[in-house]
Amino acid sequence: MGERDSDASMTRQRSGFAIFGSVLLAALATTGCVEHDEAMRTTGVSAVHLPDVRTPIPLGPEARQEHRAVMQQHLETIQAIVAALADEDYRLAQGLTESHLGFFMHRQAMARQNPEHFPAAYHDLAMAHHEAAEKMAEAMPSRDLKRILPQFNNLLKACVACHLEYKLRSS
Ligand code: HEC
Repeated sequence: MGERDSDASMTRQRSGFAIFGSVLLAALATTGCVEHDEAMRTTGVSAVHLPDVRTPIPLGPEARQEHRAVMQQHLETIQAIVAALADEDYRLAQGLTESHLGFFMHRQAMARQNPEHFPAAYHDLAMAHHEAAEKMAEAMPSRDLKRILPQFNNLLKACVACHLEYKLRSS
């Protein structure tokens, strides 16, 4: 009798644990989601598994190669600018920004690529990007990261904005 009682209470306890466990798991799962959403809201970083809603720009192999070279250079320039800022070489940072990301670069890219292959909205995003670069270059002589970094942020936002909108292939 006593044994059965304790069995029964064990069973009750176990199912109690089971219920508690599932509630806890559910709570953890929900908090996880909330935290994830919260992270997205506060950090502004998109989920890794974004649905691909980008507009494809059909380019021939040569134009694609040219575009890719410009993009690779953009990223290398960003790296070199960060290195220059870390060295407090604001003049170099300004020169790199102006010559590789500003309107000068825009004219070069236009001359080398066929602008008519790109949609008008793509050109707007490209111009916004060059404009952001010019603003960042203008902030360099201040030698003040509090003034430079917000412009740097705007420049990177312009990279991100275009990458979310366009891709080169349809696949
Ligand atoms: C006006 C549009 C636009 C802007 C601005 C832009 N990109 Fe791109 N970038 C593209 C497109 C389109 C691709 C091809 C993506 C694809 O097909 O998946 C690309 C690809 C790339 C790649 C991959 C190249 C490879 O090897 O395939 C890198 C790196 C890159 N961009 C860096 C940058 C950086 C850094 C910036 C800002 C300084 C920037 N891009 C600004 C449109 C843009």
